[in-house]
Amino acid sequence: MKTNIGLPDKTRGQIAVILAKLLADEYLVSIKTRNAHWNVEGPDFHAMHAFFEQQYEQLEESIDDIAERIRAIGHGAPGSLALMLKHTRLKELDKHLVTSTQFITALLADHEQIIRQLREDAPKCAELGDDGTNDFLVGLMADHEKMAWMLRASLG
Ligand SMILES: [Fe+2]
Repeated sequence: MKTNIGLPDKTRGQIAVILAKLLADEYLVSIKTRNAHWNVEGPDFHAMHAFFEQQYEQLEESIDDIAERIRAIGHGAPGSLALMLKHTRLKELDKHLVTSTQFITALLADHEQIIRQLREDAPKCAELGDDGTNDFLVGLMADHEKMAWMLRASLG
C-alpha cells in the first residue's frame, strides 16, 4: 500500500539512502563490538567482556530502530550481510586485536565517524522536511556520543 505521510516519493527515497548507509555502519560497529566481547584478553577481561556486551546490546536496538524507520517511510530495509558491506563507510578490522586498548581504540574511531556523519545527516533530513527522521538521528547521535565517551574514558 502507498505511503501517504506528506513526504514526496523522491524525498522518502533520499532519506531511505541516508538510513540504509547508517544501518550498514551500525552493523559493522556492532559486529566489531561482538568481536571485542568474544576475543578480548588481559587482566581486565571480565570487566571488558561485560562492557562490550552492554555496548553491542545497545547497538542491536539502534539497528532495529533504523531498519524499522526505513520501513516507516515506505522503503525496504536492507537485510543481508552483503548489503551491509556494500553500503557501509566503515572498514572491517584488518588485523588480529587482543587487548581492550586495541579494541577500544578501533571502536572509538568508528563511533566518532558515525557521530560526525549523523551531525551532517540530521540537519539534511530536517531540510528535506522529514522531522521524524531528524529527531530520530539527533537522539541516535547523543546515544553514540555517550557510547564514545564510555570508550574514551576506558582508555584513561
Ligand atoms: Fe556473550
